[in-house]
Amino acid sequence: MNHVFLIDPPESLHTEKDTSFALMLEAQRQGHGVHVMLRGGISRKPSGLVFKTRKAVVHDRAERPFKLSEWQESAASDFDVVWIRTDPPFDVHYLTDTWLLSEAGKRPLVLNAPQGLRTINEKIWAAQFTEITPPTLITANAADFHEFLRDHGAVVVKPTDGFGGSSVFIVRSGDKNAAVVFETLVRLSGYVIVQKYLPAATEGDKRILVLQGEILGAVLRLHGENDHRNNFAAGGSANAASITAEDENIVAMLRPHLTNLGIFFAGIDVIGGKLIEVNVTSPTCLREMQKFTGENLAKKIIDAAARAASGA
Ligand SMILES: Nc1ncnc2c1ncn2[C@@H]1O[C@H](COP(=O)(O)OP(=O)(O)O)[C@@H](O)[C@H]1O
Ligand SMILES: [Mg+2]
Repeated sequence: MNHVFLIDPPESLHTEKDTSFALMLEAQRQGHGVHVMLRGGISRKPSGLVFKTRKAVVHDRAERPFKLSEWQESAASDFDVVWIRTDPPFDVHYLTDTWLLSEAGKRPLVLNAPQGLRTINEKIWAAQFTEITPPTLITANAADFHEFLRDHGAVVVKPTDGFGGSSVFIVRSGDKNAAVVFETLVRLSGYVIVQKYLPAATEGDKRILVLQGEILGAVLRLHGENDHRNNFAAGGSANAASITAEDENIVAMLRPHLTNLGIFFAGIDVIGGKLIEVNVTSPTCLREMQKFTGENLAKKIIDAAARAASGA
């Protein structure tokens, strides 16, 4: 089987903790072809969809992890699986990749499904599941924000398209910076997500990876000394995590929706038993999770992708 990974430039990847790289290693181990494609590598020609790719040989080592062949152009249908694994933000370029990849039809299999990627904003989409999420306001209106802040006493304010913990503020009622934080975030992302502050965040943010609607594993991210944010990108550490009945319930509620939208692989964030976001663009944390579970989770993902691509 041949897998194409649409990724950011290979030299920008921190391969030792990169989920896409873990998938490439496993695909290669199973004897599949691994190919790399960058932004702009998709063309829709009158003859059909074509990809500009480089065949990759990958090594799990810090020095020269990628050995890449010359660029070559091939029909998209020469490949079995396309992994959309470019980092957020979800911008017009990302959106255009999904539009073009929608033309692939059934071959190659595109993961996650372009239609699902277009439908799910990781934080806004999650907010509809009010039974399992903290009270959440999405607004550009300052009066709405102040009312919500009065009602809840402490809130988290974040952009609609953020990732890695960027621009996530805690604001408490009476804070003289409250209005400034809100205005700044409106300027940043148009709309702002205002969410009840969950004190349980001090105990960590659980990342649950979900493969075809089933829980694959979990890891607990815990903030560093000088930051409230639990993201690895903000200095959070990786810790072992167990799956609770609340986690099972969250995944059970999301399962039919994720399946309908063709979300093959998702990363769900849970704080204090509440759903915070559903990551679908390029879910991460696989390598950290493998360390704690001691399981080859990448194998389960590649096996499932191979089964899905062969129509099994
Ligand atoms: N409702 C909340 N209550 C407490 N802390 C939160 C809340 N929402 C987010 N956080 C903190 O901010 C971090 C990043 O939030 P998240 O919504 O997952 O955005 P990102 O996409 O940037 O990861 C979380 O790991 C957590 O530490
Ligand atoms: Mg998060």
